[in-house]
Amino acid sequence: MAYDIYQEEILEHYKKPHNKGSIDHPDLFGHGNNPVCGDDISIYVKVEDGVITDVRFDGRGCAISQASVSMLTDRLKGMRLSEARKLDADEIKEMLHIPLSAVRLKCATLGLKVFQEASGGLS
Ligand code: FES
Repeated sequence: MAYDIYQEEILEHYKKPHNKGSIDHPDLFGHGNNPVCGDDISIYVKVEDGVITDVRFDGRGCAISQASVSMLTDRLKGMRLSEARKLDADEIKEMLHIPLSAVRLKCATLGLKVFQEASGGLS
């Protein structure tokens, strides 16, 4: 099936998440949860001259939420904060490449929601 390769990538990010951890004295910090399941994510961001130089995340969640926040942190590094603030759910859907039900979309966008609350961007 065509989605297999993407599902494998999701599983890889879940098993070996990128940018997991925290940052001392972050410039931006956000924490949020998915009220449906109680899973939660914290995001720490370093910004220099308007550019995101480092991003870490911590917390717990399902494979989709953890994989998508792992991919999101990769995407955010090196981005201008002003551009990162505009990222929306479509960006997450493109990164994951799999069909998402409304419930799974909430899982997939949990990290983005936390980042956007921290950065003052879109939710
Ligand atoms: Fe909790 Fe997906 S089941 S974030």
